[in-house]
Amino acid sequence: MKWPFRKRLSAITQLQESLAELQKAAMFVPTPWAVARQMLELAQVGPEDTVYDLGSGDGRIPILAAQEFGCKAVGIEKDAELFRYSQQRVADLNLRDQVAFQNANFFEADFRPATVVTLYLLSAVNGHLQSRLASHLRQGSRVVALDFEVPGWRACRTAPVKSEGNVDYTLHLYVRAAPELSRNTNRDVAFAGAPDPREARVGLAAVGSRS
Ligand SMILES: C[S@@+](CC[C@H](N)C(=O)[O-])C[C@H]1O[C@@H](n2cnc3c(N)ncnc32)[C@H](O)[C@@H]1O
Repeated sequence: MKWPFRKRLSAITQLQESLAELQKAAMFVPTPWAVARQMLELAQVGPEDTVYDLGSGDGRIPILAAQEFGCKAVGIEKDAELFRYSQQRVADLNLRDQVAFQNANFFEADFRPATVVTLYLLSAVNGHLQSRLASHLRQGSRVVALDFEVPGWRACRTAPVKSEGNVDYTLHLYVRAAPELSRNTNRDVAFAGAPDPREARVGLAAVGSRS
C-alpha cells in the first residue's frame, strides 16, 4: 500500500513548507521609504483615513502616513523590541495623538477601525489574514500589499514601483466592494478589481470619492 503512504508524506512536506514560510514571515524586512510612500499614494490616503500596518516592524509606515498624509495610523507588531522602538519614535516625534502601536499578533487583532491596510507579508500569511480582513473592513476600504498578493482576491490595480535604490517592487491594490456585489458571488469579489467593469467601477469609485 504505497499510495496512501506517499500521499501522507506529501501532506507532511506541504505542512512543513507552510510552517517554514510562516516562520520566515516573522522576519523584519523594512519597506524602502520611497516604496512605503507609493503604497500610501496608491491607496489615496488622506487626513480622514486610519491606516493599519499589519506587522509594522520599526513603525515606518504608520509614522510616514501620519507625517506626510496627515491621517491616524496603527501598527501591529508582535516583536517586543520593534514595538518598543516604534513607541519611542512616536514619542520622540510627538505623534502620540495620531499614531499608536500594539504589541500583538495580527491574526487576533481588530482591524475594524481601518480604512486602509498595508501588508508586507508573504502570500501564505496574506492568505491566512484574508477572511479576517474581509469580515472587518468596510466598503471602500483599501488594502495595499507589497510584492505578495492576497490569494483569492483580484487586484484593482497592480503597479510596478522602484525604491530609492532603483530596486523593482510590485504593489497590489484591493478595494472592499459594495456588499451587494459580494453577496451573490464568490468571496474574492468581496475585494473589487475584476475583469467585470461593473466591479472595477465600484472599486475605483470608492477610491475616487475620497478626493
Ligand atoms: C516584512 S516585515 C514588514 C515591516 C513593515 N510593515 C514594513 O513594511 O517596513 C514583517 C513584520 O511582520 C511582523 N510579524 C510577523 N508575524 C506577525 C504576527 N503574527 N503579528 C504581528 N506581527 C507579525 C514581523 O515581526 C515583521 O516586523
